[in-house]
Amino acid sequence: MKAVIEMKGIQRFYKLGGKKGEEAVIVRALRGLDFSAEAGEFVSVMGPSGSGKSTLMNILGCLDKPNAGTYSLDGIETSKSSADTFAYIRNRKIGFVFQSFNLLGRTTALENVELPLFYRRREKGEKRFSAKTRKEKALAALKEVGLGKRLHHVPSQLSGGQQQRVAIARAMVNDPAFILADEPTGNLDTGMTLEIMGLFQELNNRGKTIVMVTHEPELAAYTKRIVTLRDGELVSDKPVTERRNAMEDLARWKQDHALLSGEELAGAAEAAEAAAAIAPVEEELSA
Ligand SMILES: Nc1ncnc2c1ncn2[C@@H]1O[C@H](COP(=O)(O)OP(=O)(O)O)[C@@H](O)[C@H]1O
Ligand SMILES: [Mg+2]
Repeated sequence: MKAVIEMKGIQRFYKLGGKKGEEAVIVRALRGLDFSAEAGEFVSVMGPSGSGKSTLMNILGCLDKPNAGTYSLDGIETSKSSADTFAYIRNRKIGFVFQSFNLLGRTTALENVELPLFYRRREKGEKRFSAKTRKEKALAALKEVGLGKRLHHVPSQLSGGQQQRVAIARAMVNDPAFILADEPTGNLDTGMTLEIMGLFQELNNRGKTIVMVTHEPELAAYTKRIVTLRDGELVSDKPVTERRNAMEDLARWKQDHALLSGEELAGAAEAAEAAAAIAPVEEELSA
């Protein structure tokens, strides 16, 4: 299998203070971390607050560079790349999904998904996509996340779960090497959370590589592998043995939380009436 992510000895320090004779404090956010992932993996990154998840996420996403160590993404060494190459990698190799969907408000689903194609960084000699191609690709990505019938809705006309689907389509439209999701269901209720996890499982089944930062073990149980950070070190790296199926859990959740339909409500009222009629009789019998 092909390594998509290959990190070796990643260190990231933050220097605090050190002005005017004041002693500088070095915060060691990542202390020499090794992490690799292959194409087709679905990994969750866990760990308590302050363990280094965001720092790792920023380096994984090429938003930040480590102080030491190497990070090769899809075969490109990022840690010593020029600013241009670094921006190219970020734009073309990574599909970001955030907790707050970060969609443009007065812009339709289709246009939101077209945007990364419009701002797509190109290699020398690589052609710009035509408007027609951009539209076709955005359409295909929205169909892939099940929103083929909501193309012209703006975010306020979509549920939170649907907005996150648009964001996922937007993340995939440039065909990145992997999807990097940061607490992607943090703003969603249980039903929508299960829907999004189901979508991720489906996309992963179709070959998409996903890295998801989460602090919820129940969500990590939908992925295939869990790495755990503590104090800037990777302290555990385990395959998920009893993997849950989000669509099955969603079906069960819906059953448990089903709103009673009109007919069922009428039936329930009848049953309550019957019970009320019987109650005095029962009381009498037991007296
Ligand atoms: N910009 C920064 N400046 C100084 N210290 C930082 C900065 N960002 C993070 N840290 C420190 O690095 C450590 C790891 O932080 P972070 O990566 O945000 O952890 P997590 O996302 O797991 O909560 C913490 O001790 C945090 O206080
Ligand atoms: Mg964090």
